[in-house]
Amino acid sequence: MARNHDEYIQQLFGNEDEALHSVNESIRRNGMPAISVKPEVGRFLSLLVRIARPRNIMEIGALGGYSGMMLASALDKEGSLTSLELEESYANVAKDNLNRAGLGDKVKYVIGPALQNMDSLHSAGQQYDFFFIDADKVNYPNYFQAALKLATPGAVIVADNTLQGDRVIDKNDTSESVEAIRTFNEQIASDERVEGILLPLCDGLTVCRVKS
Ligand SMILES: C[S@@+](CC[C@H](N)C(=O)[O-])C[C@H]1O[C@@H](n2cnc3c(N)ncnc32)[C@H](O)[C@@H]1O
Repeated sequence: MARNHDEYIQQLFGNEDEALHSVNESIRRNGMPAISVKPEVGRFLSLLVRIARPRNIMEIGALGGYSGMMLASALDKEGSLTSLELEESYANVAKDNLNRAGLGDKVKYVIGPALQNMDSLHSAGQQYDFFFIDADKVNYPNYFQAALKLATPGAVIVADNTLQGDRVIDKNDTSESVEAIRTFNEQIASDERVEGILLPLCDGLTVCRVKS
């Protein structure tokens, strides 16, 4: 029996198929950090993509391709995923995993610091209608501003770990990453250009829509 609502949700919605399970296996095998999104978050990402039906998704933070698989597998036939990752070796693992799942033709990896690459993609005239932010926490406020520049009207922006294990509500916690997440959450709550909400799913998932 579940001891709290997180466990209850996990029991009902936290199952994963063989392809997803093998992503986390490959992460372990390659000595990468075990910080993929939880299956429940992955399921919610897929659902959002199926509802919003974006043409071009930008993911910030690929790791081994777990969230990338959930995003890419929910895309319509002509949709694509651009995944930004600092570490080339991680992106290679993610690429292998998506190739194995038959999703390789849907995804492109852009290696290097995401903020710089977002700037370059903006200069190149690229636009995206769905963003998933899941990289270094200190840059969340910057990723939000950069995403707004790249966003089509009506674009969806989603960010993971926006509760930081409830550290955001501890006023005594003034670490750089927690302060940055607080700033990000305040941006979503008060920026007139978006409408959004922070959902207490797993470690907190913020979802917003860029007003048309
Ligand atoms: C939490 S993991 C991403 C997990 C992934 N979204 C998933 O659920 O499968 C964060 C990733 O962000 C990457 N990262 C950290 N700082 C970055 C930066 N400045 N630019 C791009 N990627 C970065 C890390 O290398 C790591 O792979």
